[in-house]
Amino acid sequence: MSDSPTHIPVLAREVLEALDPQLGETYADCTAGLGGHAAMIARRIGPEGTIVLNDLDRGNLKIAKRLVQNSLRPDGPESSNVHPYHLNFADLPRKLKESGIEIDMMLADLGFASPQVDDPERGLSFRFSGPLDMRLDQSSVITAEELVNTLPADELVRILRDFGEEKHARRIVSKLVAEREVVPITTTDRLAEIVCSAVPGPRKSINPATKTFQALRIAVNDELGSLDSFLRVIGIALAKQARGETTWLKGGTRIAIIAFHSLEDRPVKRAMSAWARDGLVQPCTTKPIMASDAEIAENPRSRSAKMRVCRVIGGNAGA
Ligand SMILES: C[S@@+](CC[C@H](N)C(=O)[O-])C[C@H]1O[C@@H](n2cnc3c(N)ncnc32)[C@H](O)[C@@H]1O
Repeated sequence: MSDSPTHIPVLAREVLEALDPQLGETYADCTAGLGGHAAMIARRIGPEGTIVLNDLDRGNLKIAKRLVQNSLRPDGPESSNVHPYHLNFADLPRKLKESGIEIDMMLADLGFASPQVDDPERGLSFRFSGPLDMRLDQSSVITAEELVNTLPADELVRILRDFGEEKHARRIVSKLVAEREVVPITTTDRLAEIVCSAVPGPRKSINPATKTFQALRIAVNDELGSLDSFLRVIGIALAKQARGETTWLKGGTRIAIIAFHSLEDRPVKRAMSAWARDGLVQPCTTKPIMASDAEIAENPRSRSAKMRVCRVIGGNAGA
C-alpha cells in the first residue's frame, strides 16, 4: 500500500442524507475502511459527537482513526470520543453493548477498499502478481493459497459456484487440481493463468478469472457468514429494544448497509423486510439507493453499489 492511499467513499451524499447526522450524535462505522464516510459524518456531529470505527484491517483502521480525529477536532487535541475496534463487524454489537455505547446511526459499506485490492501483497487481484493471500484481516489464519491447494475438488467447485456464480466451476477446478499435483499454486498470476486456460470460448471484456477471485475472497474471509451473523445480531437487538430493554441501538437509530453484489444484497434485503414486517424498523426506501451517472463516471466501482436504509421504531427515543 502506498503512503497516502485513497478510496473514494461511495454514495457519499446519499449516505449523509440517509443517516442525517446531528450535532453530538453517536455513529458506528462497521467497516471504517480509510475513514471516508466516517470523516464526513464526524464533521456533521462535531466535537461533542462520538464515533466508533471498526475494521478487520488494522492498517485501514489506523488511517481512518487519524482522518476522523482531524475531522472531529481539526485544530484541537486528540478526542477521546473516537473508539477504534479491530473486530469482525458481527462481533461489534457485543463490544458496543459491553462498552455501554448506544448509537444513533450506523453504516456497513461491505467488501474491500481500493488500496487493499491495489496492493499486490494482499493477493486480491489478478491484475497484479502477488502471493495468493486474500485475507482482509492479516492476523487470520486461512489464505487463498491454502484453500486452492488443500480443499477437495468438490468443495472448491461449491465455492466457485456459490460465491462466484461461476458456470465453468467444474472445468476450472479439474485444471486446478491437476496443476496443484505438479506444483502448488502460490501466486495470483499463476491462478489467473490456470483459470483462463480452463475457460472455453472467446474472451469477453471481463477477465475469466474475475469470478474465481471473487469466490475465493468471499470464502477466505467468510464474508457471507459474517454478514448473516451481523444481520442476526442486529435482529436480536431490535427485538430487545422493542421490548423496552436497553441495548446498543435505540428508537430512531438509522441503519444503512451498502452491498456490491447480489449475494450480499439479497440477505440485507431479506433481513430489512423481515424487521419491517415484525414492526421493528421502518424502511426508508422501497428500492435500494444507487449511484448517479455522475458518480459512476468519477468512480466506476460505485456502479454496483446498492444501499438499503431503515430506521428503528419503538423504544424511548421514538421514531
Ligand atoms: C468498502 S471498504 C469501506 C470504505 C469506507 N466506507 C470509507 O469510506 O473509506 C470496506 C472495509 O470493510 C472491511 N471489512 C470487510 N469485511 C469486514 C468484516 N467482516 N468486519 C469488519 N470489517 C470488514 C474491509 O477491510 C474494508 O476496509
